[in-house]
Amino acid sequence: MKAIIPAAGLGTRFLPATKGVPKELLPLLSKPVIQHVVEEALDVEGVDAAIIVNSHEKPMLEAYFSPAPKLEGFLEEHGKGALAEKVREAGELPVAFVYQDEPLGLGHAVLQAASEVGEEPFFVLLGDYVVPAHGMSPAMAAVSAAHGGASVICVAPVDPSTTGRWGIVAGDLVEGADPDAPGAVLKLSGLVEKPAPEVAPTHLAIVGRYLLSPRVMGLLADQGTGAGGEIQLTDALVRLLAEEEMFALVVDGRDGLDTGTPATWAAANARMALHDEGSLEAFFEELGDDAQLIP
Ligand code: G1P
Repeated sequence: MKAIIPAAGLGTRFLPATKGVPKELLPLLSKPVIQHVVEEALDVEGVDAAIIVNSHEKPMLEAYFSPAPKLEGFLEEHGKGALAEKVREAGELPVAFVYQDEPLGLGHAVLQAASEVGEEPFFVLLGDYVVPAHGMSPAMAAVSAAHGGASVICVAPVDPSTTGRWGIVAGDLVEGADPDAPGAVLKLSGLVEKPAPEVAPTHLAIVGRYLLSPRVMGLLADQGTGAGGEIQLTDALVRLLAEEEMFALVVDGRDGLDTGTPATWAAANARMALHDEGSLEAFFEELGDDAQLIP
């Protein structure tokens, strides 16, 4: 199985930094955001490669995932074998690239990987959302297995006034007692991309982790534009739902770290530092009195 990681965006919310470095290569502690996502994907049993949907404007992404023998050699010669190993690991991850050179939407990005996934179900992991620790994909795979291999989407409750920022799902509870509680599973009855709060069917938002039936690729191939004038993955999933059962797994939104804006990226780094033994002490020391501002 393959995991598709859409990462072709220009990172406009991070300009001017993204003039020099793709936002996916901004670090969360010492690793680029996208390496956390790639490793999460490859951790799942049955996933043998990550397919990154990049744009030709960002060759640094390919460079990052390529071997760097000169740097490795230098580190080895200077007694820094552990660092050399980290550099080697990044260059050896099973990552392939496809391209989306026009910003035509998430659905269009996923479609670019159609020939790579073939007739197998596939994961989609959004490249600016990191789930440290165990990730969400194993739980999604378990829900899919329990329902005949159906597509599964992770959702989390959001503030009802913010539905216009998300894909929103509706469905009937088939596991758990509370649709807002992590672990609940819904059989989907509808999905809608970025609905205004007045028309949103629920406040359960798609959080950037999908396990999808390959049939969605055929639907994406002739999917018209939707919200924001873009080819939306959510709209193709609405059509998939007319053909196949689909499920939503409710997750704890706090399990994931959004790295898409300077503020959320800074918060994501702070949260990583707070949970990283090697960084914790230095992090607090460096913050000094400001550490008291952390609630
Ligand atoms: C995309 C999806 C949306 C989902 C969101 C999660 O939107 O289209 O359904 O809720 O990711 O981050 P975007 O954030 O790219 O506008």
